[in-house]
Amino acid sequence: MFSSLPLLPADPILGLSVAYQQDTNPAKVDLGVGIYKNDAGETPVMAAVAAAEALRLRQENSKAYTHPAGYPGANAAVTRLAFGNNHPAADAGRIRTIQTPGGCGALRVAAELIQRARPSATIWVSTPTWANHIPLLGNAGLQLREYPYYDYQSHSIDFPAMLDALRKIPAGDLVLLHAACHNPSGADLSREQWQQVADVALERGFIPFIDMAYQGFGEGLEADSYGPRLLAERLPEVILAVSFSKNFGLYRERAGALSVVFRDSSEADAGLSQLLSVTRALYSMPPAHGSAIIDIILHSDELTRQWQEELDTMRNRISGLRQNLVTSLNAIQQQVDFSFIARERGMFSFLGLNRDQVLQLRRDYSIYMTDNSRISIAGLRNDKLDYVAQAIKSILAS
Ligand code: LMR
Repeated sequence: MFSSLPLLPADPILGLSVAYQQDTNPAKVDLGVGIYKNDAGETPVMAAVAAAEALRLRQENSKAYTHPAGYPGANAAVTRLAFGNNHPAADAGRIRTIQTPGGCGALRVAAELIQRARPSATIWVSTPTWANHIPLLGNAGLQLREYPYYDYQSHSIDFPAMLDALRKIPAGDLVLLHAACHNPSGADLSREQWQQVADVALERGFIPFIDMAYQGFGEGLEADSYGPRLLAERLPEVILAVSFSKNFGLYRERAGALSVVFRDSSEADAGLSQLLSVTRALYSMPPAHGSAIIDIILHSDELTRQWQEELDTMRNRISGLRQNLVTSLNAIQQQVDFSFIARERGMFSFLGLNRDQVLQLRRDYSIYMTDNSRISIAGLRNDKLDYVAQAIKSILAS
């Protein structure tokens, strides 16, 4: 039976980690998968997370199943984290949140819910978008189409083209937006642009489907959730997929959440029952460990303060690296002005190199990035800046 299955190429993002680990060059640099690393190249467990884990170890006295939606306390806390305290949609009982296996789980469960509600719906994704959006959403059976987003020439959002495309989207379709720290471009909508997206969504009747995987990595927890908060205030229906991989450093624990804003609380009750039936058929219930940690942290003022400080440190380190990379690159070559990297936000930016140049960097310098020249700035180190800048300079000159 399985002889009909061909060997597939490695995942375009995760496959890079394997290649990097196998590389024996001591100078190697990992700018591939989006994982935050400190200046020693490590991804330590956050201190607030370690403290919450120690508490959990002492307190947990059963491994019996939890609620299919996850811990109710954690769901309330992550809803507040995403939407803020006293959000009108929450106060009106219109939001339902479930824990999911990471942000990927949230995206896929949302896609299955859409498939149940409107199988003919198209999901519009930005050009470009995170590579895994395509199989995650498409494999649920939904049609995907693209709207213009990043302009590679100006290194900024082509907002007029984006708006123009949004104005043609039929009612009932979904538009996938990145809350902050757009993956892969690092180019984010301004507050005014979010307002205009909300206007067009109201006018056209499409439903915003927001992926928030980097809350706190762009400008801060509040600022990075401006878009979801605004859209949930102004529109009848919004979907928000959240990942805690990056901001709590819980990557392998697969901690995420899906919040859906419904028209009213009775639609929300029906919607939640559908969500739980989707998850029961997919994986029964979410993993508990990561969410339990988040639950503990968000219910402790002291741990919340510690976690936010650690998050601030990570964000500031990435902004510093962005600035330092621009300084290093612009000091040694004049061919390309790389200052756009300092204007962009979050883990990723495009270098603007072609695939051959990317492969050359990998082969000749052991510098790893995805084939589209997306670099994970969070994987850079200050002591590698000169090496990376020199390598890019020589690639541009060849
Ligand atoms: C990335 O884009 O590198 C991260 O979101 C990790 C992943 O799963 O692709």
